[in-house]
Amino acid sequence: MRRAVRRDQPSARRAGLRAMLLPWVRRADARRLARVLPLACSCSQRSALPRGYSQGAGGKALLLGAYASEREGDGAQLSAAGDAFDGRVSGRLRELLAACGAPLKKGKARIFHGLHQDFPSVVVVGLGKKNAGINDQENWNEDKENIRAAVAVGCRQIQDLEIPCVEVDPCGDAQAAAEGAVLGLHEYNELKQKKKPVVTPQLHGSAGSEAWQKGVIYAEGQNLARYLMEAPANYITPIKFAEYIEQKLGNFASNVKVHIRPESWIATQQMGAFLSVAKGSAEPPIFLEIHYLGGANANDSPLVFVGKGVTFDSGGISLKPSSGMDAMRADMGGAATVCSAIVTAAALNLPLNIIGLAPLCENMPSGKANKPGDVVRAKNGKTIQVDNTDAEGRLLLADALCYAHNFNARAIVNAATLTGAMDVALGSAATGVFTNSSWLWNHLYEASIVTGDRVWRMPLFEHYTKQITDCPLADLSNIGKYSRAGGACTAAAFLKEFVTAPHWAHLDIAGVMANKDEVPYLRKGMAGRPTRTLVEFAARLSQDSHSPK
Ligand code: BES
Ligand code: ZN
Ligand code: ZN
Repeated sequence: MRRAVRRDQPSARRAGLRAMLLPWVRRADARRLARVLPLACSCSQRSALPRGYSQGAGGKALLLGAYASEREGDGAQLSAAGDAFDGRVSGRLRELLAACGAPLKKGKARIFHGLHQDFPSVVVVGLGKKNAGINDQENWNEDKENIRAAVAVGCRQIQDLEIPCVEVDPCGDAQAAAEGAVLGLHEYNELKQKKKPVVTPQLHGSAGSEAWQKGVIYAEGQNLARYLMEAPANYITPIKFAEYIEQKLGNFASNVKVHIRPESWIATQQMGAFLSVAKGSAEPPIFLEIHYLGGANANDSPLVFVGKGVTFDSGGISLKPSSGMDAMRADMGGAATVCSAIVTAAALNLPLNIIGLAPLCENMPSGKANKPGDVVRAKNGKTIQVDNTDAEGRLLLADALCYAHNFNARAIVNAATLTGAMDVALGSAATGVFTNSSWLWNHLYEASIVTGDRVWRMPLFEHYTKQITDCPLADLSNIGKYSRAGGACTAAAFLKEFVTAPHWAHLDIAGVMANKDEVPYLRKGMAGRPTRTLVEFAARLSQDSHSPK
């Protein structure tokens, strides 16, 4: 039953309302409290809690969703869990929400204290329009995005209040709610003495626990990639990266194999392009190869992921400007997202085989570094003129893609923070996908609608190939002859020279590498995108036994 509360309460009536809402508050106190009506919907009024209602250490908060009202003037529409809770507190939650005045906006939160003994703090978050569905313009499921954003905002408010545990309303989609909670609370504070308080989100109620758990695993996968990308380059060197992933996969030892290939192995593989980049650094390169065998048969054709693993990209002799160079610690984002996706696939026990390949090294200037104009030979025999040593990612990937052809893959998908031009083209809205396969594109696209971590198809025209094959000293130049024009496309055309497989996709993730404030459920920092889309894609592939030839 909905109780209407007028917004313009005269103060005496507000005091009465307060007394009715908070029966343990004396009437005189209620009048005093009424003067500060927002008392019950603030996030910093801990002193206002009645005696016996403790929060902070040991306390528990409740996060509930509310949809926008369908008709103007109506109050918020609580979710099913919100409704049930409102019943437990005799309709007080609705009354307080109405008493707050302006309707609760999408992605905003209101906190109420002292409503129920089990939950000293209740945060209500705005979910926007109910049943918004798939937005064809935005290419994502709007309900899921709204839930992720709202839950993340609410959980962060709980964290600010230093409440260690929050029960989260599934809001009609427990997976999206868990993703919002776990992604929204993540922050890299490994190296700080003062850390943010830990908040543990739990599902409120018993319905949807499987979906909740799935959401936690998806989000933890992305957080693993964020962690690796954010960590300083002196902490995540090639060998440290490989060991970290090996340790994460240790939990699934029965169907996982990890090979940490040293420089000598890379040399025997004749990966001359990769080695030419690595030799400029004092840090030895690693070729990380991981096998997840979740398929019915160990020899079922695998999905092969390849990730650019430049643990620091200074540009080499074609040195980058110093301002912002620190962000190039995340130039292993391709390796981080594909390896994290495989760790996640193993945690989900997905029924398919996946191989992950990550060429890992630093790109540094030194007496041993590549020089502009040097010519190197890739694994497939093609020669490459290194006209710009800062276009190093494609050199690593050239060799790794050749190697990827050893596995009779169902599909080869590589991810790389490859070009600044990708960021210029799409910014952080979507990962650019260059692919020779519409079948593969459809799977990636469908997966991204669900995850909200979007993809956008980019061209692989011959037009761009001509710009890298017209080269004075070698078969290929590592940059397009019109320098910056279509830089993401010439880079993709370069990679295509090392691919013969019919289902290959190159994901340029440079634009989505970091989050400022564009994705509301990620804090500022390295984004770990599009890990969840890769996981969802693998999950969908595991259900599609009919890969085209
Ligand atoms: N790692 C960079 C690309 C990058 C830039 C990633 C910004 C994330 C954010 C890559 O190795 C690079 O430097 N590419 C050059 C290519 C150019 C020299 C043709 C670039 O984009 O400027
Ligand atoms: Zn570079
Ligand atoms: Zn790079």
